[in-house]
Amino acid sequence: MVKTIELVDGVVKMLDQTKLPREVIYVDCIDYYMVAEGIKKLWIRGAPAIGIATAMGIAIGAQEIRAENFDDFIKGLEPVFNTLLSTRPTAVNIQWAVNRTKQLLSEKRDESIDKLKALLIDEANRVLAEDIEINKTIGAWGAGFIKDGDTVITHCNAGSLATGGYGTATGPIRAAVEQGKKIQVVADETRPVLQGCRLTAWELMEDNIPVTLITDNTAGALLQKGEINLAIVGTDRTAANGDVANKIGTYSLAVLCKENRVPFYVAAPLSSIDFAMSSGDLIPIEERGPEEVTSIFGCRIAPEGVKVRNIAFDVTPARYVTGIITEKGVFRPEDLHKLNIKDADLNAIMMRAEESHS
Ligand code: MRU
Repeated sequence: MVKTIELVDGVVKMLDQTKLPREVIYVDCIDYYMVAEGIKKLWIRGAPAIGIATAMGIAIGAQEIRAENFDDFIKGLEPVFNTLLSTRPTAVNIQWAVNRTKQLLSEKRDESIDKLKALLIDEANRVLAEDIEINKTIGAWGAGFIKDGDTVITHCNAGSLATGGYGTATGPIRAAVEQGKKIQVVADETRPVLQGCRLTAWELMEDNIPVTLITDNTAGALLQKGEINLAIVGTDRTAANGDVANKIGTYSLAVLCKENRVPFYVAAPLSSIDFAMSSGDLIPIEERGPEEVTSIFGCRIAPEGVKVRNIAFDVTPARYVTGIITEKGVFRPEDLHKLNIKDADLNAIMMRAEESHS
């Protein structure tokens, strides 16, 4: 399985995903500005992966701070937090990583500055290690919803490359394959940045998981022909009411799935669920530059001067979502908010595989 990101001797090494699949090149980010640049420029992308990059960016940013006391240390960290928070607005994982770091620091405020710096390095490595374990747990829960012989459609890349490893949407796929199920994956190419084509198809092929690449506008035809059994996608931010922000085109796929009575699942680690956001309408949606639409790898494909909208994410209303696969189990979108209730009986509300077509 490909390594997306790691923290080695104070340097954040990230795989430059803009070069895939033609070149496998790791960039050494030597300071937090460079980590932020990597997030903005999509060297690293995918909600959990940019959350991990944030934790690592904070850790290396902290090493440069000269402070005599806790308050000055936190003051020194503010620009680090703000720079990372300003990179991409939709994935909640960046905010999640900042909040997690702040929480750790407030619990350890009596430690020395040197100790706090060391703790932030440990924490960043822990965020990475936990993410891989969470994806494996998501995989184990989700695999129960995939039958031997199934064809699974996915959109964008919610795989190893979008996470610390194993992937969220690819978690159930990988786990089903590990269980010996013979399954097929259909990957939407995912215009304009082509994450499905360049990344999902590549990483699944690297791991010998059967994958077929389609253009985004082919999904409807395959669903109509009955060639797809279920969809599993990732999420950048899922609101408490079960509305799901994910890569542009996810909403269209979800509507097509409903029309064709094909279950539509979202793999969502708790780090991507924003319990404070009551509804998907409130999720900030990133719009990116026109060149991603007008050019492909530097080659212009649209008329000079054409007006462009490049909306990077859409929101799929909860009514199109069959189930949300988390590390705590699989839940109907309307039950998602209960995960945030202390001592809630999750076993009682958990969705079972046999209910998947209801
Ligand atoms: O613009 P990207 O490539 O960062 O968008 C990524 C996605 O939309 C993923 O599906 C999402 O982040 C989930 S990744 C596990």
